[in-house]
Amino acid sequence: MNVLVTGGCGFIGSNLVKYLRRERPAWTVVNLDKLTYAGNLESLSELEGDPQHVFIRGDIGNRELVEHLMSVHAIDAVMHLAAESHVDRSILGPEVFVTTNVLGTQQLLEASRARGVKRFLMVSTDEVYGSLGPTGAFTESSPLQPSSPYSASKTSSDLVALAYHHTFNLDVVVTRCSNNYGRYQFPEKLIPLMVVNALHDKPLPVYGDGGNVRDWLHVEDHCHALLLALEKGRAGEVYNIGGGAERRNIDIVKAILGLVGKPESLIQYVKDRPGHDRRYAIDPSKIRAELGWTPAHTFEQGLAETVRWFVDHPAWWERVTSGAYRQYFETQYRTR
Ligand code: NAD
Ligand code: DAU
Repeated sequence: MNVLVTGGCGFIGSNLVKYLRRERPAWTVVNLDKLTYAGNLESLSELEGDPQHVFIRGDIGNRELVEHLMSVHAIDAVMHLAAESHVDRSILGPEVFVTTNVLGTQQLLEASRARGVKRFLMVSTDEVYGSLGPTGAFTESSPLQPSSPYSASKTSSDLVALAYHHTFNLDVVVTRCSNNYGRYQFPEKLIPLMVVNALHDKPLPVYGDGGNVRDWLHVEDHCHALLLALEKGRAGEVYNIGGGAERRNIDIVKAILGLVGKPESLIQYVKDRPGHDRRYAIDPSKIRAELGWTPAHTFEQGLAETVRWFVDHPAWWERVTSGAYRQYFETQYRTR
């Protein structure tokens, strides 16, 4: 089996590539990543010299390149994670979100169709459903009501992927996951940002009243669900993925401060994110019942382990925030 993972140098992608090499050692993983600010080959340094991990620097929107690599590597399946992923960046500059997430995904789908890919796993997000009130949870049939340019672009790509199934009979499975946390997450997202700021004794910016709720899932549990969806999901179906760990932002921030031994006086309430979704919660009954998925991590244990990892790996996050990892790319991976 030869699988193309797009965005394999990002947070979830790099965890997924390593997960696949561990769990499916006979497979070859071809990793197509543009190495935007969020892509980092250092997150994959443990795979250096592994002939079954093939890294290709390139854009999912480059149809010629994508078709060429699908043909050369005889790609059977695609796991599509490459995206612009940060909501705040989409508010500052929406254009690249449409270019990569919508148009890039469509080019990748078209290449997959042309090259006879047997399965296309579209990694979507729970943000397609918009915001919940104080009760209830998203099911796969909840209305799609995206709020931000990021979530609108993900909703578009999610629907275009499903359209390729319905119209062209491409074998597409869509997953919609809640907020991930874990090792190698770029320190612009809530949990790593707060850890890094706390370690530097810098203010911790909490948007609005800090009462927004997210449903957190350990990235390894997400990787497990993605592999199940790839291998056992039904074509044309959508699977919600979520850990049943709803937490208010402010409670997470306080927990992080406790874990790193810093005072709550570092918390600074700041202007709210425009169009900020109030609450997400996932009903994962379908993936549990159909594919037998269950998360292995509890949030408290996973958060403590993640915070410990960031404390122990300052070189990783100092380099990704400084851009120094690009030099690493030039020296270590020039020939790949
Ligand atoms: P990330 O920002 O950490 O990584 C994205 C990766 O995609 C980077 O390596 C980047 O270089 C690459 N990339 C961007 N544009 C590209 C392009 N045009 N061509 C090729 N590569 C490109 O993102 P993440 O948090 O790991 O999210 C991965 C996927 O999972 C995204 O599709 C996201 O929407 C989805 N998702 C994320 C979460 C979450 O909590 N992080 C939850 C649900 C779904
Ligand atoms: O739900 C899945 C989505 O989760 C993914 O599709 C996105 O790619 C991913 O970025 C994430 O989106 P969020 O907007 O929920 O994640 P973020 O870490 O940016 O913010 C989490 C919450 O924390 C949100 O309510 C905003 C708040 N926040 C965030 C930052 C960066 C703050 O209060 N302060 C901050 O500085």
